[in-house]
Amino acid sequence: MAVIEARGLTKRYKEVVAVDDASFAVERGQVFGFLGPNGSGKTTTIGMLLGIVRPTAGSFSLFGASTPGALVAARARTGATLETPNFYPYMSGRDNLRIAANVKRVGRARIEECLDIVGLRGRAKHRFKTYSLGMKQRLALAAAMLADPELVVLDEPANGLDPQGMRQIRRIIRGMAERGKTIFLSSHLLWEVERTCTHVSIIRRGRIMKTGAVSDIVGGDKHVVVKADDIERLLAVMDGYPGASSARISNGAVVARLDSGDLGTLSRYLSGHGVHPSHLAAESKTLEEVFMELTDGTPPGAAEAS
Ligand SMILES: Nc1ncnc2c1ncn2[C@@H]1O[C@H](COP(=O)(O)OP(=O)(O)OP(=O)(O)O)[C@@H](O)[C@H]1O
Ligand SMILES: [Mg+2]
Repeated sequence: MAVIEARGLTKRYKEVVAVDDASFAVERGQVFGFLGPNGSGKTTTIGMLLGIVRPTAGSFSLFGASTPGALVAARARTGATLETPNFYPYMSGRDNLRIAANVKRVGRARIEECLDIVGLRGRAKHRFKTYSLGMKQRLALAAAMLADPELVVLDEPANGLDPQGMRQIRRIIRGMAERGKTIFLSSHLLWEVERTCTHVSIIRRGRIMKTGAVSDIVGGDKHVVVKADDIERLLAVMDGYPGASSARISNGAVVARLDSGDLGTLSRYLSGHGVHPSHLAAESKTLEEVFMELTDGTPPGAAEAS
């Protein structure tokens, strides 16, 4: 049973179709990234899952529950952060968590545990308004984890952070996954999704363009780049290599599509044919390249023209 399953989920505001017929499934233990440019419908999708936004059409289930009553119970097994976390600026981080913990009937020991997990224990007595952006984001993660939820839903958890802040968030998310949590996060940050997530849906203008394991999407198209003194001879030999197809010359190198990432066999084949490459490397598409192809070159993080 999928932890989250969306079927034809749609949200229409007057002229805008914010989410358009979205279907996807998130399985237990996945770190699932919902990747799309600004305005592509990420927050709206999360809002629907959390019961804040009412779908225009389609349906979804959480832990197999899809009726309103059953969804209330399913959401009790879910921790979440939305775009801008609601904390009281003049209260300390710890007191803010206490308020959230009261609502969720979570004890003090767990508050300290969560502060520890996000590395905020040393600053927990300071006022929220004195926190850096990264600390604010981490406090939001702590709040989402209070009730030790099985599913954690995070809207742009690394938004606005510097590389070190992102690394901290990534470590926390990976830690959650290692403890068996299922994580659904939205992001417009390709690198982040590529490094953090096991699975991804690429979305554009509310439509899901592609869904799959990150390793399949970025590794699905393996190329090898080979250089040698006699490039024409190299091209001829590569053309005859059974494990490669569509060999061509590009930028002074031979580029070919590989059936597998096995460079040892290729290397032996080349030397067996008297070619001694000066450069031999496998390259796979980055998520960024896939994303660019699917979104017509809308740069990551740029607003969608509507
Ligand atoms: N309450 C609303 N009323 C009207 N239009 C809305 C509303 N909420 C969202 N939209 C529109 O729906 C589309 C998707 O918005 P959404 O906030 O879901 O995108 P997003 O992917 O989260 O963007 P960002 O990366 O900027 O957070 C946008 O065109 C937005 O203007
Ligand atoms: Mg958003």
